[in-house]
Amino acid sequence: MAQAQQGDSRLRGGEAMRDGAGTGVFVSFEGADGVGKSTQVEALARRLRDAGVEVVSLREPGGTAISEKIRQLVLSPESSDMCDECELLLFEAARAQLVGQVIRPALRRGAVVLCDRFMDSTYAYQAGGRCMDEDVVRTANRLGSCGVVPQRTLVLDLDPSSALARATATGADRLEAEGVRLQERVRAAYLRLAQLEAQRVRVVDASGTKEKVAARVEAALADVIPALAGQDAEDSRQGGAR
Ligand code: TYD
Repeated sequence: MAQAQQGDSRLRGGEAMRDGAGTGVFVSFEGADGVGKSTQVEALARRLRDAGVEVVSLREPGGTAISEKIRQLVLSPESSDMCDECELLLFEAARAQLVGQVIRPALRRGAVVLCDRFMDSTYAYQAGGRCMDEDVVRTANRLGSCGVVPQRTLVLDLDPSSALARATATGADRLEAEGVRLQERVRAAYLRLAQLEAQRVRVVDASGTKEKVAARVEAALADVIPALAGQDAEDSRQGGAR
């Protein structure tokens, strides 16, 4: 029941954004630690910019001076005694600042906004991973995202132990240091969300080469980013170069 309500509130937010926040497209990338989101966000941003699209590429928590300060605080291994409620509210605080200062203005200008993590990370990590009350997380998410909902969310999906090994190869942040059990609960929450909100949230197989994953990412976005649909058509006219 709580999950169904979460879906409803997100849909309302999405509609409000389309009605009032301009002609931009908002896409978020999600997944457990180490699935390769940032590589894919970078590759897609490059491809869209080459096609002449204005792209605003962001990561959460972060993307404004204030949100980056919150990032330092919330992810630092020195914050090991942080309680779950404090963690939740810090992620939401960083998000609210990012929405107001960067995401809304960019969408109003008509940009494509690519965000490496957004509100669904809070659902997956704080409700799924930390087992916090879903109603509490849903309410906090509504506040933190200021009613702005991505048109499409891609969950990059990979076996949690190999993903975590990749993420921690050069050192672990506070959440990564908690190990594979947390990542397994996070993954399960993402897969549940994709079932609940099948139109917005799509699971993308993140195994294989960067190029293969990039092709899957583009296919999963072609209906919401017109430049990709145009590029697909162009590619097939030229003999399916990809
Ligand atoms: P980051 O280094 O950006 O990891 P990744 O490259 O995997 O995105 O660290 C972000 C960490 O914060 C990651 O472990 C997920 C966690 N997180 C939450 O727990 N809740 C949230 O709402 C957000 C945005 C991130």
